[in-house]
Amino acid sequence: MMTTIQASFSKERKFIADASHELLTPLAALQYRFDNMLSDESLSDENLLRVVESQRTVHRLRTIIKSLLMISKIENDQFPRTETVSLAQLVAEVSEEVQDRLAVLNLTLTQEVQPDFVVQGANRGLLFTLLFNLVGNAIKYNREGGQIMLLGRPEAPAGYVLEVRDTGRGISKEQLPRLFHRFDKGSTTDPDSYGLGLSIARTIADLHGIRIEVNSIEGLGTSFLLFFPG
Ligand SMILES: Nc1ncnc2c1ncn2[C@@H]1O[C@H](COP(=O)(O)OP(=O)(O)OP(=O)(O)O)[C@@H](O)[C@H]1O
Ligand SMILES: [Mg+2]
Repeated sequence: MMTTIQASFSKERKFIADASHELLTPLAALQYRFDNMLSDESLSDENLLRVVESQRTVHRLRTIIKSLLMISKIENDQFPRTETVSLAQLVAEVSEEVQDRLAVLNLTLTQEVQPDFVVQGANRGLLFTLLFNLVGNAIKYNREGGQIMLLGRPEAPAGYVLEVRDTGRGISKEQLPRLFHRFDKGSTTDPDSYGLGLSIARTIADLHGIRIEVNSIEGLGTSFLLFFPG
């Protein structure tokens, strides 16, 4: 039998899922309307700019809502976990996916996942998102000419650790305790930072029984450790 607390949690989850889903439809309509306005040749440059700005806002809203929807879908156990995933392969795929973004800050990315580790009973897409979000942060909060290291090693007595290490700006002691909270952005002011990437990462890790540990020194860099059970 469900306890009252469990019941109210699942009610809240269902509400978030339903509300997010409902919001996506009118937003798609709004986006469509803005797209159409852009093809209006009588539009002044000033108004054109306003429409483009509005399109960006709609895009941001959709990204936030999709992320919330994703979190609630994971929490509601709507993703099957039936795949076996090689971490060496996953690291290689994520590295490949971010190659273009390394050039902006002149970053070097190295991968050393040896020996490999195979995760059983996993959802490959979700594990990709988990690693992609961590590597995305390692890129975004790095410094010019910095490094990113993706390192895998067995963990005694059983299990495995995958580390995402960067030489970026680091995370303050004040921010660390709320790092995985939804919408926490620390001192980040970038309008395209939503403070949701780590919250998604944590939800995916919980689903797979992966423990996350963070070590960071301000001004020097950050290391995220993923502990996979053996
Ligand atoms: N590797 C890192 N180095 C320094 N700061 C970090 C790092 N990873 C996360 N942070 C801090 O934690 C905050 C939350 O990260 P999170 O990934 O959840 O959101 P975000 O990057 O701001 O936006 P998004 O939702 O687009 O990922 C960031 O805004 C940043 O302040
Ligand atoms: Mg992020």
